[in-house]
Amino acid sequence: MKFIICENPAELGEIVSELILDQIRYNPSSKLCIPTGSTPIPAYQHLVQKVKALDFDISHVHFYNLDEYLGLPRDHEQSYQTFLSQQVLDPLEIKASHRHLLRSDNPNPQEECIRNNKEIDEIKCFDLFMDGIGENGHIAFNEPATYFEARTHIADISESTRIANARFFSSLDEVPKQAISVGFEDIMKSKMIILVATGAKKAPVIKKLISETNITCDFPISFLRMHNNVTIVLDKLACGSCLDQLT
Ligand code: PGA
Repeated sequence: MKFIICENPAELGEIVSELILDQIRYNPSSKLCIPTGSTPIPAYQHLVQKVKALDFDISHVHFYNLDEYLGLPRDHEQSYQTFLSQQVLDPLEIKASHRHLLRSDNPNPQEECIRNNKEIDEIKCFDLFMDGIGENGHIAFNEPATYFEARTHIADISESTRIANARFFSSLDEVPKQAISVGFEDIMKSKMIILVATGAKKAPVIKKLISETNITCDFPISFLRMHNNVTIVLDKLACGSCLDQLT
């Protein structure tokens, strides 16, 4: 795992947007699986600014989301489709055929998982999989568990993640209890993985990632130790007591 340490979230946004642009320069038809959450927002803002300023052609890039709440209308303000549309896809004017989004309102979520797996099968793998880091080490909605579903699946959202995400809703009761999530088989097949984390709340999970060496379903991010192209971009607060070790 390679670490990049930034001064603050703004610098992280700058660096991560460059990593995304590098991937698109390398392969203009890149298949990007990208996250929601608060951490990637500065990266998306920089990405949109740079694409516009450079008149950068991203019309061949395909975008996928890595997870989606279950049971929300697709246009709900907290659906991940709404988030990605507002932050990335609409500002970049990505055409509908290049938006591969999970459907939160499919009355048959199992069918939605199968549909998503077929979409992934068509491309074989993501060129870039990017994600934030859950305080409990989750990756997408692969929460700490006794075993993992390998591919896209219906996931129970852990209580700690629901509490962490309640800040986006008016009450904890409104936070969905289930989601659809890509699974570790497809995450591990991705050619490149970028993880981002900012703020002191993420320092304990980063410390655990650095100080422990075991690979366990109890700590999902630990699986990425087996991937050969993972870049973790952190701000100084997320490094916490590991800052000296990482710089
Ligand atoms: P955050 O979410 O970027 O809002 O901290 C990360 C995550 O829970 O995966």
